[in-house]
Amino acid sequence: DRRVTVRDIAAAKQRGEKWPMLTAYDAMTARVFDEAGIPVLLVGDSAAMVVYGYDSTIPVTVEDLIPLTAAVVRGSRRAMVVADLPFGSYQASVQEGLATAVRFLKETGAHAVKLEGGRRVLPQAEAMVAAGIPVMGHLGLTPQSVNVFGGYRVQGRGEAGEQLMADAKALEAAGAFAVVLECVPGELAARVTASLSIPTIGIGAGDACDAQVLVWQDMAGLTPRTAKFVKKYADVATVLGDAARAFAAEVCEGSFPAPEHSYR
Ligand code: KIV
Ligand code: NA
Repeated sequence: DRRVTVRDIAAAKQRGEKWPMLTAYDAMTARVFDEAGIPVLLVGDSAAMVVYGYDSTIPVTVEDLIPLTAAVVRGSRRAMVVADLPFGSYQASVQEGLATAVRFLKETGAHAVKLEGGRRVLPQAEAMVAAGIPVMGHLGLTPQSVNVFGGYRVQGRGEAGEQLMADAKALEAAGAFAVVLECVPGELAARVTASLSIPTIGIGAGDACDAQVLVWQDMAGLTPRTAKFVKKYADVATVLGDAARAFAAEVCEGSFPAPEHSYR
């Protein structure tokens, strides 16, 4: 069974089929999501929070993300794996951006990269596409710019919506194969989705997008506090906490290990 490719992604839009994307940061969860049929796995710079314990995506580095991305590739068989380019690894110049994207593909086996921004990173996106690297865009609430936005708030209201539309069209023209729309009004996401021939991937962007993405720890109920746009599909924090408490109790009272867990 071969990997999902950019051609499959393009064909899904043609057929009007919706699809899911999840984040993954290690081999075991990558395998679980791959076997569940998730066609695209994103090794997000959200690893800054959910793996490394930072309170924004700003501090995470290429060196932090490369081993996680390689693990997700090793743990999956069918999914396309998208490597998120961290803050500061592509903004300074086309050369820097291209070198970073090339590192991710060569050192991790990822199949595509994602970068934040529209027209301001267009030269980088074009150079990556020209080099043969599929590029996923990311518009709206781009968390690497949280200090400019003054917090995590809805983007693209009013006149900013036309700017976002122009950015989306520019990314499409640059050769991007998909674009994430994060935390924007549903009506704007619907207009962008109808205007583009490449798929939109929504997160807090309403129901009209071609695809939807969530951070797995958010959708599985591991994250303590989540945004309004997150739906909790499981309560992994409770399952894991209960398992840890049961293990602790049995160790303390001496009922674990039992004879069947011991060698004689
Ligand atoms: O880093 C991330 O997890 C992301 C998704 C939320 C789109 O960029
Ligand atoms: Na990200």
